[in-house]
Amino acid sequence: MPFYSDEIIEQVRAANDIVDVIGQYVHLKKKGSSYFGLCPFHNEKSPSFSVSRQKQMYYCFGCGAGGNVIRFLMDYENLTFPEALQELAQRAGIELPQQEMTAEARRAADRKTQLLEINKVAAKYFYSLLHSERGQRAMAYFQGRQLSPETMQKFGLGYSDQYSDDLYKYLRKMGYSDDILKDSGLVTIDEARGGRDKFWNRAMFPILDANSKVIAFGGRVMGDGEPKYLNSPETPIFNKSRNLFGLYLAKKTKRKQFILCEGYMDVIALHQAGFDNAVASLGTALTPGHAALIKRYTDAVYLSYDSDGAGVKAALRAIPILKEAGITCKIINMRPYKDPDEFMKGLGPEEYEKRIEGAENSFLFSIRIMEADYDMSDPAGKTAFQTAIAKRILEFPEELERNNYIEAVALQYQFPVESLRQMVVHLAAKEGSGITAARPANRPKPTNFAKQQLNREDGPTKSQMLLLTWIAEDGGIYRDIKSYIGPEDFNEGILQKVATALFAQIEAGEEINPAKISSQFPEEEEQRQVAKMFNTPVAEDASARDLGKALRETVIRIKEESLERQRKAADPGEQLQLIRKHAEIIATLKKHDFYHRS
Ligand code: CTP
Ligand code: MN
Repeated sequence: MPFYSDEIIEQVRAANDIVDVIGQYVHLKKKGSSYFGLCPFHNEKSPSFSVSRQKQMYYCFGCGAGGNVIRFLMDYENLTFPEALQELAQRAGIELPQQEMTAEARRAADRKTQLLEINKVAAKYFYSLLHSERGQRAMAYFQGRQLSPETMQKFGLGYSDQYSDDLYKYLRKMGYSDDILKDSGLVTIDEARGGRDKFWNRAMFPILDANSKVIAFGGRVMGDGEPKYLNSPETPIFNKSRNLFGLYLAKKTKRKQFILCEGYMDVIALHQAGFDNAVASLGTALTPGHAALIKRYTDAVYLSYDSDGAGVKAALRAIPILKEAGITCKIINMRPYKDPDEFMKGLGPEEYEKRIEGAENSFLFSIRIMEADYDMSDPAGKTAFQTAIAKRILEFPEELERNNYIEAVALQYQFPVESLRQMVVHLAAKEGSGITAARPANRPKPTNFAKQQLNREDGPTKSQMLLLTWIAEDGGIYRDIKSYIGPEDFNEGILQKVATALFAQIEAGEEINPAKISSQFPEEEEQRQVAKMFNTPVAEDASARDLGKALRETVIRIKEESLERQRKAADPGEQLQLIRKHAEIIATLKKHDFYHRS
């Protein structure tokens, strides 16, 4: 695994114009000095994803995703850093240096890449065990579940040996140290007892990410036993709520929708039956992260959760999460079978295709489930049910949609349409939302988690970010402020590091290069923060119309806060003197005529 120098990283980055690269994935339109498009990392209807040619960075004002061109490729294509760099180098015709893998390089190299390597080695090992003498029982188990050799191969199924340190020994023999193995999720290292495998004597299901990289495993007991399935714990490369089993296959489907189910065997049985669009969230409840991932590939899902009580509950929880992500969903009825795997064995693919065609609208599904809570033979129960329905209908923001549902529900339950409509209007009025014709005008918009996260910064932090954006967009400002503001006036940590790097570029007479600065922070979260620092909207923060005035106010705010910090840290004896000195600085600042150029 190669380790690349800062110089070569910067060379590759600079050779790949970010607008050109992102333009291959996202439809971009020029607006002012930036390009805008629909954000590929969250669902949106109006573009808040911006790409700047000047800064060579992208930033989404909606969800906060951001970084330079390398980061974009890593996130969009789920690549590791070296992979993204290799792809960009190839794109620009740059030959990356071939390096021997020294012990030092290995240590320095991306830990995640090593963990991916270990998972891949383990998957190959489990696979070969399954096809060996030792794996006969597992082979018989899979065959008993009617899996064909092709299916076993497609999903890379395997077997973990009956000895509880078999894989550990193998991985050590392959040269991996305890230090990295302990983070792989595959073994636990015990001081006294040594390494022990997480999985032994189980039928193994590798979990691959969207780029067909093995990131974790599930292991099933062959027969009865507890727990039925064991799964890898979360590791630096495995985030349960951001991966879907089968996605690497389903993303290539020609079908317009995904089928979302619960388990390993469901996905595998569906693919074997020709439904190459099946994915599963594997034991954990569906999260907004899953929904956002699905939304990258499709905006329609068929839910094929278990038909038992737990499955119905899980479906009821999944529906609003999908809806919030902009995904419509329908529910597949699998009765009398429990799950898609059993359905395939019982009724087969053709019948399942019919069930897809007859899938139920998710709203009508949830209403139907709700019905069980009411005694429909009792007039009071019936009224309560109708009221509950009316309440749910109010959740639709569009009048047309509300009317369609009023009609559909009335038809299905043989309620008089007009009385249901009246009920909706009546309820809306009671809620004080000012609706007359069933139009909920003032309903709060659905909460947007990302947006709430975004506006967390306090005033001083915002001012500091604003100043960085300003300078990045117009380096001339730096001359204006440098006698007042230095990196030490910024909050310690990433803000100060970015300010230091930015000011150093200007002082060295280099061109301002935010994307290069962001390369110093390879982690996703830090890249987002840096991207935000270079994309703080000026108008939002500045009350003053006049830019010069706004700039002065921003500088004053930063300086005041920084001086206050200094004073608090100083000796009690110095306080009075400092207060006087600081007041002077601020007074001069207030008189300074900022930004008088055109
Ligand atoms: N699961 C898990 N741990 C368990 C049980 C279940 O992680 N102890 C997850 C697995 O991903 C499993 C899914 O939840 O595939 C659905 O569980 P369940 O319906 O119990 O199993 P099935 O998928 O029907 O498994 P099988 O057909 O192999 O019995
Ligand atoms: Mn099953």
